[in-house]
Amino acid sequence: MLIKLGITCVIKMLWLVKDPLYGSLRIRPFLQKGFRILSIEHKVFPDGEEYIRFLDEIREGDIYVIVLRGFPEQNNNILRGALIVDTLKDLGAEKVILVWPYIPYARQDKRFMPGEAISIITLTKVFISLGIDYLITVDVHNEKAFVQFENKVFNVTTEGLWAKYILKNFDPEKIALVAPDRGRESFVRRISQIIGARYFVFEKHRDLTTGRISGHRPINEGLIKDVINYVDYVIIIDDIIATGGTLANVASWFRKKGFGGEIIVCGTHGLFLGNAVDKLLMSGVDKIVTTDTVANPFICEELSVATLIVNKILSLVGEV
Ligand code: R5P
Repeated sequence: MLIKLGITCVIKMLWLVKDPLYGSLRIRPFLQKGFRILSIEHKVFPDGEEYIRFLDEIREGDIYVIVLRGFPEQNNNILRGALIVDTLKDLGAEKVILVWPYIPYARQDKRFMPGEAISIITLTKVFISLGIDYLITVDVHNEKAFVQFENKVFNVTTEGLWAKYILKNFDPEKIALVAPDRGRESFVRRISQIIGARYFVFEKHRDLTTGRISGHRPINEGLIKDVINYVDYVIIIDDIIATGGTLANVASWFRKKGFGGEIIVCGTHGLFLGNAVDKLLMSGVDKIVTTDTVANPFICEELSVATLIVNKILSLVGEV
């Protein structure tokens, strides 16, 4: 607190309220911008119920940024996030920002069949009703799902990060970028525009009842000639790597057609469920890379989303 000429001037502080169970996201970019880490006590009772206690005082005028884990244990994360947000508000915090780099339930973003819950909408409504000022996420499965929350929910895109990574490690003349489905088409197209590389798109169909992939093929079958003749690297980019099925299908399509170069698969959110890694390797994938939104063995430090998030926070609250 500064006292000048009888006027009390309170300096606003930025607090990082780090989910005690979230370890993958880099924290240094927050600290470099002056965030202080709020001390939290967390425990889980024998019956699985979670306990949260803040050990620092909550100051009305400060800005509290919660960084919440999305995976694994999505349901517990949601509950822990709710305890954190609600307790901050209850103790007087005015400004609360929820950062959820990997937001769960995002693939259920519409009513595919009559009567279904639109899970991502429900989840967002829960946190808005708890009083968050903003929600920031990264490469959400479908940005359009958030239209009704304009000016409240922001999706940070990693296109620039991937473009930089690819430019640094590969010759754009020698690569083919691939969108594994229509949902990733614009994302991959924008990366291709930044780096000046060719790109191709696959089309994927899922059985709505089982969720299994029922059809998966390139939009332009003729692409393989281009790839075999001119390209050393196929780089397939997706938002989520879950069972690995989507990326494995695309990789094995290229292998079956005789592509002998390297296949690199990239995912913003690496969940790697079950035997996903084996599946990818057996389909002919040479390398796997992800950002740091979800803990996994394939995080590439130069693909950390932390600075993008910090920049977004500061653009919303102003430099403090
Ligand atoms: C859905 O279409 C997403 O964009 C991903 O392609 C999907 O979540 C990947 O899932 P999996 O790794 O299980 O194929």
